[in-house]
Amino acid sequence: MKINFLNNTFDYKKNLKIQRVKKYIIIAGITIAISIFSNMIAKSDEITYDTKKNIVRQNQPNIKKCLSSPSISEIENTFKIIRIDINDVINSIKEEKEKNEIKIEKKLVAITFDDGPGIFTDRLLDILEENNAKATFFVTGTSVENYSNAVKRAYDLGNEIGIHGYTHTSFTELTIDKIQDEINKVSDLLTDLDITPSNLVRPPYGSIDNTIKENLDYSFILWYVDTRDWESLNKDAVKEQIRSNIEEGSIILMHDIHETTIDAVEEILPELIDEYEFVTVEELFKRNEQELEEHESYRKVKVLEKVEE
Ligand code: NI
Repeated sequence: MKINFLNNTFDYKKNLKIQRVKKYIIIAGITIAISIFSNMIAKSDEITYDTKKNIVRQNQPNIKKCLSSPSISEIENTFKIIRIDINDVINSIKEEKEKNEIKIEKKLVAITFDDGPGIFTDRLLDILEENNAKATFFVTGTSVENYSNAVKRAYDLGNEIGIHGYTHTSFTELTIDKIQDEINKVSDLLTDLDITPSNLVRPPYGSIDNTIKENLDYSFILWYVDTRDWESLNKDAVKEQIRSNIEEGSIILMHDIHETTIDAVEEILPELIDEYEFVTVEELFKRNEQELEEHESYRKVKVLEKVEE
């Protein structure tokens, strides 16, 4: 009897030890899972800092319970609860966010980039994507030839491609036929890349007159905010130009061939994104219910008056 009893005691202790080891392995597993999940959340742009804090706060009791849990099955159950809870939190916050987005109407503006694409365009496209922003690119012939992948990517991402001219010669120095030729050559290059250019033209140097407007079947897009990025080649100066001149409905001029411009965009977009929505020129006019007419030039859109519901 005694021996049996001792054996039982021995087995019981051994079993306890195994249970304890199992418990630690599971706790380690849960910790790793939580940290991987937290990392995933931390990297997600969809989820705000407050949301991340909420998820941690909401799950603190579960995590505590889990760590002080006496049995493996209880730990496993708690782990399941944690996973379900985290998904619930994420879903409810996403729903809340979507509702809020419909409520808060942002001011629409159009950022435009001339003379590209260039070596920095891909980086710019990443930044636009990260900020849910769209832009309009007024491209030149040689740039399209040299950076066809970038212009194709810009188009595929939903940005608008307008025409700036094949050689970037001032339109006022050319005959109507020559200007048409400048536009057609770029248009053909884009069509070869399966890109449908919009009917928007930005005359090089903004040089345009009534004869040009009357004789060519395009809408001519000038600008309301001139960042003078080519002149300053300074990130902070570009940001300041945008900050102090931006207005609802404005068209902003930049050049994606300067690295300092891309640096400025990278910093200014997150700064303005709560107040402004960055859309293509076509979208800017469409959403303000204004036609982009041919033979006209534009600097900004006449902002549609908002009706309170
Ligand atoms: Ni230009």
